[in-house]
Amino acid sequence: MGVILAVVIGYLIGSVSFSYLFVQHIKKVDVRSVGSGNAGATNTRRILGTKWAVVVLLLDVLKGMVAVWLGFFFQWTASALLPGFLSLSQVDGLAPALGGLAAVLGHNWPVYFGFRGGKGVATAIGVISVLVFFPAIYVGIIAIAAIAVTGYVSLGSLLFAVLTPVAVFYTQSTNGHPETYLYLTVFLGLLSIWKHRTNIVRLLRGNESSLYKKSSEG
Ligand code: G3P
Repeated sequence: MGVILAVVIGYLIGSVSFSYLFVQHIKKVDVRSVGSGNAGATNTRRILGTKWAVVVLLLDVLKGMVAVWLGFFFQWTASALLPGFLSLSQVDGLAPALGGLAAVLGHNWPVYFGFRGGKGVATAIGVISVLVFFPAIYVGIIAIAAIAVTGYVSLGSLLFAVLTPVAVFYTQSTNGHPETYLYLTVFLGLLSIWKHRTNIVRLLRGNESSLYKKSSEG
C-alpha cells in the first residue's frame, strides 16, 4: 500500500508543471509552443528570463525531493505499524525510489496538462540528491562546469544522466545504498537520453541553443 501511495502521490506532485503555470500566467502563452517546446526551466528562461527560470528550476527540483521524502515516510510508517509483516513498502529504498521515479514521469507526462511536459532533469536532480547525495554533488559539479564552459544546458543534463549511475555504482560499497538506487539512476539516465534525442542531434550538428548565443530557439 505504501509503495502504491508513494507512486500515485509522487506522480500527482510531479505533474504540476511550474514552467507551464508561470509562463501562461505571466506571458499568456503556452511554454510548449515556444522555443524548444519543452516545459522546463531552460525554455522558461528563453521566455521569461533567468530569474523566473531559477524559480522554476528550484520548484521542479523540490517536486522530486518531496516525492522521495514521502516515499521514506510511507516506508517508515509500514515498518512501524506492521513490524515483521512482509510487504513491498518495507523493502529498503523501494517506496522512495519509485515515488521519485513517479514524480519524474509526472513531470514528463503531466496528467493535468495533456501529458505533454518536460524532460525531467530538474525533478530527477531532486530525487537523486535526496537518495544519493554525494554522487549527485560530484556529478552536479561536472555538469554545471560543462554548462558554464559551453553554454549548452542540454550537454550538462546529458552528462548528469550518464555519469550519475557510474558515480552511484562506484560509491555504492562505501555509501551502502540499496541496489534499487542504482537501477533507478540507470533508468532515469536512459529516460533522459531519450527525452534529449533532438538536443543530441542539434549538439552533433552544432546548432544547439546556447546560453551564450542567440539561436533560432532564442
Ligand atoms: O533539461 C532540459 C534541458 O536539458 C534542455 O532544454 O529547452 O533546450 O530542450 P531545452
